[in-house]
Amino acid sequence: LSIVVLISGGGSNLRALLEATADGAFPARIVAVGADTEAPGLDHAEQFGVPSFTVFPSGFPNRGDWGDELLAQIQQWSPDLVVCAGFMRILPPRVVAALSPNLINTHPALLPLFPGAHAVRDALAAGARETGVTVHIVDEGVDTGPTLVQRTVPVLPGDTEHVLQERIKTIERDLLVQTVLDIATGRTDLAAIHQSNRSATT
Ligand code: GRF
Repeated sequence: LSIVVLISGGGSNLRALLEATADGAFPARIVAVGADTEAPGLDHAEQFGVPSFTVFPSGFPNRGDWGDELLAQIQQWSPDLVVCAGFMRILPPRVVAALSPNLINTHPALLPLFPGAHAVRDALAAGARETGVTVHIVDEGVDTGPTLVQRTVPVLPGDTEHVLQERIKTIERDLLVQTVLDIATGRTDLAAIHQSNRSATT
């Protein structure tokens, strides 16, 4: 299974995937890493000898044009799966339409709770006693596609956003690697889930 991973930040989830796929027995490999910024996480790709590309929104007159270039760069690698791992931009509809259902995202909350870019902060602000991680298929909405797997993470008294985020990431890394493995081995059938979700909602 060929994978392109999209990042925007530190790339700890990417690093977990790079480590897992470096094992020759793992039935998937990361063929390239894409970013919308000069993400620090791109260093992980370099360390593992994985090619990377950046597509800066500032270089385009609108989101659609940026998305088209990002899509073109992704498709050069002919991936079987695209993984958004801390990618902090909404993919335009043309990109989602071209890649879904082989396009997944990891989100640091129990969707549909706390969607959006500040999920950890929002869970804390809401006084949640527990939150968690969701890995889902990306659809045209923001954090709204069919859920593949979720795992809860406790919120402890005195948690700061950083402490809670790190506790979430510890779970998230393993969940993402396991989900990619399930997709690579066919235990998780993205097309079937996508189809059943569409029929359920139409
Ligand atoms: C992850 O928790 C991801 O779910 C969220 O941002 C974080 C990115 O962390 N969107 P990293 O870049 O993988 O370290």
